[in-house]
Amino acid sequence: MPSPLPDPLPVRSLTTADAAAYRALSAGAFGGRFDLTPEEAAAPLSPGQSVLGIDSSAMLAATGAADGGGADGGGGDGVLAAGARILHHGIALGGGRARSGGVAGLAVHPAHRGDGLFGAMVDAVIARCDAEGMPFSMLFASNPEIYRRHGYQVVARPESLVVPLVDLQRIRPVPGRRTLPVTAATMPRLRALYTELTAGDNGMLRREGPHFPEGLPGGGWEAVLLVGEDGTDRGYASWTRRRPGPGTAEGRELEVHEVLGRDRDDLRALLRVLGTWSTLVEELRLRVRTEDPVLDVLPGGRARRASDAVPLVLMRVIDTAAALAARPAPAGVHGALRLIVEDATVPPGTCRAAGAFDVVAVGGQIRVLAQEPTEAAASADLDSLGTVHLDVHAASLLLTGGRSLADARRLGLRAEADDPRAAALLDALLAGPRPSVLDAF
Ligand SMILES: CC(C)(COP(=O)(O)OP(=O)(O)OC[C@H]1O[C@@H](n2cnc3c(N)ncnc32)[C@H](O)[C@@H]1OP(=O)(O)O)[C@@H](O)C(=O)NCCC(=O)NCCS
Repeated sequence: MPSPLPDPLPVRSLTTADAAAYRALSAGAFGGRFDLTPEEAAAPLSPGQSVLGIDSSAMLAATGAADGGGADGGGGDGVLAAGARILHHGIALGGGRARSGGVAGLAVHPAHRGDGLFGAMVDAVIARCDAEGMPFSMLFASNPEIYRRHGYQVVARPESLVVPLVDLQRIRPVPGRRTLPVTAATMPRLRALYTELTAGDNGMLRREGPHFPEGLPGGGWEAVLLVGEDGTDRGYASWTRRRPGPGTAEGRELEVHEVLGRDRDDLRALLRVLGTWSTLVEELRLRVRTEDPVLDVLPGGRARRASDAVPLVLMRVIDTAAALAARPAPAGVHGALRLIVEDATVPPGTCRAAGAFDVVAVGGQIRVLAQEPTEAAASADLDSLGTVHLDVHAASLLLTGGRSLADARRLGLRAEADDPRAAALLDALLAGPRPSVLDAF
């Protein structure tokens, strides 16, 4: 029988003093080093993240288990029963951007597993994302079902292709393009290109802040910058070259992190550079976005999906109004609708996903008025609107962008409109490429 969970759950913010306990919990769950260097032990836990935890002793005391703890006072001192990190990320939203809480390192101590702490921690994470003004939360999971119950929805499947190098070696030179080595001096130009060329995407991390330190990534990472005749930065390719050996199968001898360019010629010129390894390497591995333009430029039909399973990307809307307002309205799209989001997956008040929202697209912006479901619409204009009903899964899917109400219905999610014009407007506001995330965390 699982022990009853204390109410409220004693979740607290972890600080430097908890670094060793958190490391032990995390290394026990995910592997890795248990010990901390003196610098790690003294460093603040907080830059760029919020770390939450539950003390084992608090759980034991709250559930009465400490009474039977014997001479050690119940055990659990200096041990965490559960912990999780919320990484402070920014994500691209079809030309806008929003903060997103990236959930990492969620673990429950083996002594406390099976008691329901996992679900309670996920709810605490959602509440913290809300308290910290993050309209979304994102995580990677191989087993999405346990997160799905808390409103997270699969939005993307990270993909890598295995590409025969001989195909790239045949690409003809592209006039008017030259390549430069990427050094510490040129790295800011590459980062600016990433930000610019992925700004219209949905879900792609904005590579800023402590999780993406400036300078060269190191560890064998290399890149070339592509420059046009007029000196404009046009794109780049980045990769890691590995010696053949165990673990370098499926193109891992040349692992290409990304190939980004402004147009097809840019992508061709960059693929041609990668083709120059064809004398040494048979295949490369290329990480791609869901609808990556490079897919349309790859010559030959022999590229195949890498076979290894990768965790799925899940998103959860935390604050519906802020998630909508973070995205620009496409030029020429205007109108209004009422959106009702239902969220039975977390206790009421955990976050701001649920509610009734009057959504107005005007002048390239989305304005949102959150309302109690019983309140009348604010104006005659809004009175005449159609209403769209979403469950939290459909809301998480659609507000991340690049999907339609029909897509949500095909997945068996609730996405209903009483007026087709309201459905068409919402689809138009949330259009764009299907979500992608290249960075893992
Ligand atoms: C996964 C983990 C966090 C679950 O913690 P827990 O407190 O024991 O889980 P709970 O008791 O709250 O169970 C939550 C639900 O998830 C299910 N579940 C737990 N572990 C699971 C697993 N490894 N695979 C599939 N389902 C699992 C439980 O059966 C339960 O479902 P139910 O409500 O239908 O009974 C814990 O086992 C752990 O820390 N594992 C190692 C680290 C890890 O895998 N973290 C998650 C990374 S995505």
